[in-house]
Amino acid sequence: MQPTLPGIHIVATGHYAPEKVITNDDLSHIVDTSDEWIKKRTGIERRHFSEGEKNLDLAVHAARQAIEQSGIDINELGACIVATFSPDYFVPSVACLLQRELGLPEEMPSFDMNAACSGFLYALHTARGILLQSEKRYALVVGSEIISKVLDMEDRGTCILFGDGAGAAVIELAEGKQYVSYLGARGDDTSIVCPNADGVRHIVHMDGSSVFRFAVGTVPVCVNKILEKAGVDKDEIDYYVCHQANKRIIESVAAKLEQPIEKFYMNMQEYGNTSAASVPIALSEMNQAGLFKPGMKVLCVGFGAGLTWAGALIEW
Ligand code: ACO
Repeated sequence: MQPTLPGIHIVATGHYAPEKVITNDDLSHIVDTSDEWIKKRTGIERRHFSEGEKNLDLAVHAARQAIEQSGIDINELGACIVATFSPDYFVPSVACLLQRELGLPEEMPSFDMNAACSGFLYALHTARGILLQSEKRYALVVGSEIISKVLDMEDRGTCILFGDGAGAAVIELAEGKQYVSYLGARGDDTSIVCPNADGVRHIVHMDGSSVFRFAVGTVPVCVNKILEKAGVDKDEIDYYVCHQANKRIIESVAAKLEQPIEKFYMNMQEYGNTSAASVPIALSEMNQAGLFKPGMKVLCVGFGAGLTWAGALIEW
């Protein structure tokens, strides 16, 4: 029998969103929509839009908070990964600039990952893999997005959904802590696409209903695969932290899993869908609110463009 590899301990977290708040009412002056429609169909009430702040600025705020809270020696960091689909440049990566801004050690891999809304959990998985082969104990994992810059503010089907923000975690390998993941991808450039063509502004296009169907089908499968792999019953999960795209998606997942909705953290009312930042912002808020106790089982699931999905069972 193979020895069990160490799991992940989330040592500290941080999150940040730009100051500028855009309410549903604000959007109703821009496109033909209403607060009532958006709240009812998505659960979103507000979102934060950057006014001049770059992706890097958001990442710095969230990461600095996590590092300060962790109290670690930054020379013990073995990786710096930023999950994003809205970096400031194609190159250099947000992660490389974050390394410079925070004065992090140069002798570690620093890079961005793009798995859209599944990005943070892809990055967490990758960071663990790197640490398993490293002499260093810790990794910095960030999800950071400036989605406002890639929105078509005339498309009411997409512009009402998204917001800007960043979330971060300092993780360490932890013997005896359970970590079970399930990641996947299915090539699809019609459901959600943000094109990259010469002379064309990068704008998110989305077939909302198709993504909705994908999400309500995939998230329960992802949860059940992880529970099965982990040998854990769904009732043993203390919190489910799903990608904050739509309240109705989360309600549908809770119903399919026959789990109380109270176990599903929700904050899309404040931030909208912040893609790769959504799961780490939720984890950071929950951590700040003191919801986590040592030993608790937290099951995180992301899904999004790619199409991609990713789930991770983390023991707090
Ligand atoms: N305000 C008012 N009416 C609207 C709006 C709006 N903002 N947007 C759409 N409508 C209208 C439509 O035009 C349509 O009108 P019609 O019936 O006259 O044609 C009607 O509302 C219903 O439209 P649907 O698209 O069927 O509405 P639905 O209930 O599916 O909700 C939504 C749309 C909110 C986009 C939903 O499909 C959704 O949340 N999808 C998932 C999106 C998601 O999770 N994305 C995550 C991945 S993103 C990433 O990875 C980067």
